[in-house]
Amino acid sequence: MITCRSNSELRTALEALSSAGSMKESSTKTKVGFIPTMGSLHEGHLSLISQAVADSSITVASIFVNPTQFGPGEDFDAYPRNQRRDLRLLQGTGVDIAFLPSVQDIYPAACSTPILAAPSLSSCLCGDTRPGSHFDGVATVVDRLFRIVAPSTAWFGEKDWQQLQVIREMASTLHPALEIKSGLTVREPDGLAMSSRNAYLTPTQRFQARAVPVAMQAVRQLTPTLGISAALEAGRSVLLDAGLACEYLEVRSAETLTSYPHGASATPQSLDGLRLFVAARVGDVRLIDNAALTYAHLTETAPAAGSSQSALAA
Ligand code: PAJ
Repeated sequence: MITCRSNSELRTALEALSSAGSMKESSTKTKVGFIPTMGSLHEGHLSLISQAVADSSITVASIFVNPTQFGPGEDFDAYPRNQRRDLRLLQGTGVDIAFLPSVQDIYPAACSTPILAAPSLSSCLCGDTRPGSHFDGVATVVDRLFRIVAPSTAWFGEKDWQQLQVIREMASTLHPALEIKSGLTVREPDGLAMSSRNAYLTPTQRFQARAVPVAMQAVRQLTPTLGISAALEAGRSVLLDAGLACEYLEVRSAETLTSYPHGASATPQSLDGLRLFVAARVGDVRLIDNAALTYAHLTETAPAAGSSQSALAA
């Protein structure tokens, strides 16, 4: 694995790997797979990376804690950073390049125009409850990274479903040749979605956080009998009873993120294409999650046995 700490180091590494690859296999075009991250890597990141490695001839993973997507009073300074551990984890994944750009590489003074995320996708849910223009910051950094890395395919997690839709929309207009692929949410054995921010949780808060997947499952199970509105009320009670502050627990269209029609009957057909979204706070720690609003249990699983779980524990 090559570690690149600037745009020029990345260019050199990509050129070297492309020409080495084309000497070996003259007929195949280099397929660059890209996984942007903010580091503090966990099994969710590693699962995206292993899918990208299997799908690409060259794989690039970036680590960049992007200042422009944090609002005033949010945790930019406190965001967990551990480059040595992250690089050690990446070593075992088959990634070819770890890209750790500087703020200057991503935001050179001469290039200051931000990308504006589509308001229909970015103003609801987290766009409404986080301070500042969170998704403009995400769209801007991802656009800059796409221009620097020039990937064929980029990988994002369903864990951040709204972010995924914002990026799909941005890429469809600004990077039409780029393929966006997504990976399922990786969960802890008790159902809590893996997140770099879980590291903030005290043992008591970690126990309380379990209410997030429990509330989601309650909504999914109660919807067929109670209807969506009453099922959401029951889900909110689960969060409240566990001592969590509910920022939102909502059902929306999975693709357009528009609200579901009130009064819609909860037949299996009417739930197709609907998704459940939650954001809740345990103390100061903000947790988000989402899932399809079907009758089935959460389909995503805990990390497979034999995955890099032991490396994470080290
Ligand atoms: P970060 O939170 O580090 O996440 C990087 C990628 O990993 C995102 O695509 C995210 O959706 C995915 N991911 C996080 N937790 C996951 C889980 N439990 N299962 C599966 N995938 C998971 O998201 C960001 O960084 C940033 O906003 C970024 C896109 C890098 C732009 O700065």
